[in-house]
Parts: sequence; C-alpha cells; structure tokens
Amino acid sequence: MNIMEIDTVDIDLEKNAVVIIDQTKLPNEVVLKDLRDPKEIWEAIYKLEVRGAPAIGVAAAFGIYVIAQDLSEKFSSDEEGFCKAFVEQKEYLNSSRPTAVNLSWALNRMEDCLKAHLGQGVPAMVEALKNESIEIRDEDIRVCKKIGEYGVELIKDGDGVLTHCNAGKLATIRYGTATSPIYVAAERGMKLRVYCDETRPLLQGARLTSFELFESGIDTTLLCDNMSAALMKQGKVNAIFVGCDRVAANGDTANKIGTSVVATVAARYGVPVYIAAPTSTIDMNCKTGDDIIIEQRDGKEVTDMWYEKPMAPAGVKVFNPAFDVTDNELIAGIVTEYGIARAPYTESLKEIFEKKKEMRLS
Ligand code: MRU
Repeated sequence: MNIMEIDTVDIDLEKNAVVIIDQTKLPNEVVLKDLRDPKEIWEAIYKLEVRGAPAIGVAAAFGIYVIAQDLSEKFSSDEEGFCKAFVEQKEYLNSSRPTAVNLSWALNRMEDCLKAHLGQGVPAMVEALKNESIEIRDEDIRVCKKIGEYGVELIKDGDGVLTHCNAGKLATIRYGTATSPIYVAAERGMKLRVYCDETRPLLQGARLTSFELFESGIDTTLLCDNMSAALMKQGKVNAIFVGCDRVAANGDTANKIGTSVVATVAARYGVPVYIAAPTSTIDMNCKTGDDIIIEQRDGKEVTDMWYEKPMAPAGVKVFNPAFDVTDNELIAGIVTEYGIARAPYTESLKEIFEKKKEMRLS
C-alpha cells in the first residue's frame, strides 16, 4: 500500500467510521484503522495515531459526525437531548490535545452547522453534519494545494530545503503544508534537496517526513535535530519550510518542539524561515505566542519510548513540551492559501482574512 495514494483521514459512511492511516505504525507498516466510538477517536488523537494540525481537525470533524450518527438513533425525535449530547461529545474530543487550533476550529464549525439546522429535526441535522465534515476534508485538500502554489515561488531549482517535524501529506489529507511547495516543485520538474530533522522525541521527521518524501522520489536526507547548524553553516540550506499548530495574531508561531531552535540558528546563517499556515491554523484571538497553551507530554517519550531499555536514570526529571513558539521576527513569511503574509504580521494577517472573506476558497 502506497500511503501517497491513500487519504490520511477518511470517512467510511457504510461502517460509520473514521478511517485513518495509523501513524504510530509508520514507516514499517501501513495500517488503516477504523475509529467508531468517542474513546477510540479521542485516543487516536491523543496518542498521535492521527496527528498534524489539519489532519487532527478533519479527524475531529469526521469523528463528531460519526458520534452524532450514533446519537441520532437514541435521540431520533428529541432534538434538545441530541444537541446536549452532541455538545458534551464535542467538548470531550476537544480535550484530546490543546495546542493545534484546528481541533477546536473544526469542532466549532461542526457545532455552528448544528445550530444552523436547529428546528429541522435530528435526521436533517445529521445529514448537514455529514456534509459539513466532508466539506472540511475537501477544503483541506484545496487549501494545501494553494499553499504549495504560493510557496513554490519562494524556492528555485537546485535549492536545499530543510523541514522540521512532519507538516507533510500525513499531517493533512494529501499534499501537506510545508511539503506542498516541495511536491509542487517536483510536479514542475524542479530538483530540490530536502533535509528532514528527525524531530525528537517522537521522530515525526524520521518516521513520517523522510518516509513520505522518499516514497515520492524526492532527494531526501535525514539528520538529527542537533545537526542543522552544521548543515546551514556549510551553505546547504536555502530555505526552511515548517508547519504550525497555532499562529498568533502577531505572527508568533507554535510548532513542533525544536522549530524555534532551527529558526534561531537560521537567523545566524541568513536562511529564511517560512511558516506554511492554512488560515484554519491562524488564531486571531491569540494576541501573541504567550497566549498559546503548550502541550506537555509524558517524560517516557524521552527516556524510554524508542529504546529496549530506558536510556536515562529512573526517576530523573524530564522536560517534554510538545511545541515551542518561534518569535515572529525570526519568520520571513507566512504562506497561507490566500497568499504570503510578511511582517508586520498584525497587519498582513488581517489582510489575509479580508481576502478570505472575499474569495471564500475555504
Ligand atoms: O505532535 P504533532 O506530530 O501533531 O505535531 C505536528 C506539528 O508540529 C506540525 O508541524 C504541525 O501540526 C503542522 S501540520 C501541517
């Protein structure tokens, strides 16, 4: 099974299940997993079986639809009971991970859809929820492609591009965000050298990004997280593209832990850092990066997870935030589906949302 031919997250309407590529099994096995009940969906997000901000959003949208479909049997003629149960389940799914805004963005969109159909009866509401979840998925595909088309303008044939974590196809439905310019470049016959940070502690760069780029025939080189300064010093990196989990209104960007290290080193060597950001990941309600909640994860991910025996003394304290915030002054541009925002981001991001209102691509 070639993962590039399978959508990362899908819906099986007959089985009433969310279908995901289980990313914890990659790169060694490609396993599709059906998610049906709320706990299964919650755990799949929490355990990173499905991960990456846009993919989490789509999984949550399909997830709440699947749950709503089940609830509709119990509450077939009780709209009020149905809505109450829907909101409870929505809040439950929303508690699975805190940093990626796409999770609450998609779930709120599903709740807005529900509210817009109040009074029309439970079956009509469920039908509307189905259509909305499919639209959220379809939009993701269009949006990522657009990001690739804008992003490719920032690179040229022969460039070296570095990326951190996985903001690839596996983090979205098809093209990825940070990888989309790379895939568009390949479609246009451009030859790039792509460098993937392995991305400790969960190795998204090694297990996922290098895997999907390599499978796609892209010139791919894997490096440990502490090697990118050496690479930049040798002049091998022309541009850095990363994804994001939440961009604040001033451009401060939360992304996978280590992104701010890469950006700080890049400033030293004059390499531009671009954030690939669907507008669904830009949170204008967060003024600055200080307002972004950073997920803290189990220390065992650092000490035990990839080893036969623990690789640290039992009981040692572990610092394991899943994300960090890159200050806006380290960012050369934020590539959205409506164009590229440049500093000052407080102004340019507002303009992007103005464009979004006019163009309604997403
Ligand atoms: O913990 P993860 O694997 O969900 O973190 C993912 C990232 O940090 C990605 O870079 C981000 O979600 C953007 S995905 C297009």
